[in-house]
Amino acid sequence: MKKILSAILASAMICASALAFGACSGGSSSDKASDATGSAASTADSSTAEGKELHMATNAAFEPYEFVEGGKVVGIDAEIAEAICGKLGYKLVIDDMDFDAIITAVTSGKADFGMAGMTITDERKQSVDFTDPYTNAVQVIIVNEKDSVVAKADDLAGKTIGVQMGTTGDIYVSDVEGAKVERFNKGADAVLALTQGKVDAVVIDNQPAKAFVAQNPGTKILDDPFENEEYAICLKKGSELTAKFNDALKELKTDGTIDTIIKKYISE
Ligand code: ARG
Repeated sequence: MKKILSAILASAMICASALAFGACSGGSSSDKASDATGSAASTADSSTAEGKELHMATNAAFEPYEFVEGGKVVGIDAEIAEAICGKLGYKLVIDDMDFDAIITAVTSGKADFGMAGMTITDERKQSVDFTDPYTNAVQVIIVNEKDSVVAKADDLAGKTIGVQMGTTGDIYVSDVEGAKVERFNKGADAVLALTQGKVDAVVIDNQPAKAFVAQNPGTKILDDPFENEEYAICLKKGSELTAKFNDALKELKTDGTIDTIIKKYISE
């Protein structure tokens, strides 16, 4: 027993010192963090990462992209981020916050990147850089099954519409003629308001919409979709990490990892 322990300790020490030279590829407890994220790999310039932490700003109320399960943030974005950080030799730390705080967290340097089912928009591009997109989405309309005054996108005019604050749903709906926009911190709260008859419809991304409808019997998604969008990771303007993230993303797309992660959460 003692022998095994000292062997582990010795290898941990070797690994810790090897890490300083960027040579440790995992296995020991001291390298557990980056090892848990997948082995260091080809893109990986782990010599620069040295097992350092990268903070990801997200809003974990957006199933299946990020949500809390067993006290942990899980979901498509969490797993892709974990895979990217694993490749680059970083330890991923996820910081949960309001959606509309994410970009500020990134621009102020409080977080190293933002990943939250975040749509690339020209306006956001003025404050942050985006990686290449990793998936597509579409904004949809959720209504009550019974007696809805909204049956198609055109009907939104003049209605009271619930959105998650600061999202693209919020931006689009704010342009709808005569609409009254009710902004909520969470999409779930917007859907709750719908079930209580406080709003006529909710505009939100399609996959979370499915999850919300499943959790709220009596609601449904209209067939008339709203806007197509692309999700990407945002980083501080000019960050050196963006190119590394893109390289890692490219590899994860090519080797099928991204697909596998998405399919784990979305069955079509
Ligand atoms: N795709 C939309 C946007 O970028 C909504 C994202 C909301 N994400 C979240 N984790 N709450 O604005």
